[in-house]
Amino acid sequence: MLIAQITDSHVEAPGVIAHDRYDARALLARALQQITTMVPRPHFILHTGDATHHGDVSVNRDVRAMLESTGLPYCIIPGNHDEIEPMRAAYADTPWMPKTSFLHYVIEDFRTRIVCLDTTIPGEVPGTLCEQRLAWLEGQLAAGGSRPTMIAMHHPAFRIGRPFSDARPFRNADKFAALVARYPNVSLIVAGHVHCTLQARIGNAVAIAAPSTAYQFLMDRREDASISLIDEPPGMYLHDWSEPHGFTSQVALVGDFNIAKPTYAAKRA
Ligand SMILES: [Fe+2]
Ligand SMILES: [Fe+2]
Repeated sequence: MLIAQITDSHVEAPGVIAHDRYDARALLARALQQITTMVPRPHFILHTGDATHHGDVSVNRDVRAMLESTGLPYCIIPGNHDEIEPMRAAYADTPWMPKTSFLHYVIEDFRTRIVCLDTTIPGEVPGTLCEQRLAWLEGQLAAGGSRPTMIAMHHPAFRIGRPFSDARPFRNADKFAALVARYPNVSLIVAGHVHCTLQARIGNAVAIAAPSTAYQFLMDRREDASISLIDEPPGMYLHDWSEPHGFTSQVALVGDFNIAKPTYAAKRA
């Protein structure tokens, strides 16, 4: 099973150019085009939030139309830039969108379960799993038994290493890690939010943050630095799950890159 994880598309109204450089709408379209032209095509698109920049109803509808234009099944969870109720409304008739409460749910259609979390705090940048959401997660993990499971969330629940980001840490990260550690079948925890590519460990799971499809943030380790943009290419993650190996995850940059045969192969032939 091949899952294409995209994140932080930050789509705005048509014609808006973010930071005078980035047409987030066109960049999401470009990433989706790359997904649909892959051979073999991914089986599923997972969007881990900040789909929109301002949470507007109309932009949520546009993002949905773009996702559906791929013809692939997909799901989406909210980020801090999204608004809960407009997102719920935009996807109300999908089988996974909850009618009330948090935007969390489980995709059960595949051999590996995808537990999708809502880590947002209305009006705030950082993420959390409050007691209510932790209890829901514990119930879902218990119900899944030993089935292979991945967790999707917008905010990474690990240290970033960028002081600007770590000044707004994930709240309740210790409780989340303790819960996940009790379920060794949770092998992969995927996130976005930090607009850079990271790997860490939570419990027994590999934890990753995926690059944005729109623009990246500099991994600035200076204590007093604010956030800066860096012109690295947009990207996505491809999570390739197979029995009995589990997940192999690849960062796939979005763009037109030349493909060539290595010269040593020509010499051997
Ligand atoms: Fe973001
Ligand atoms: Fe975010």
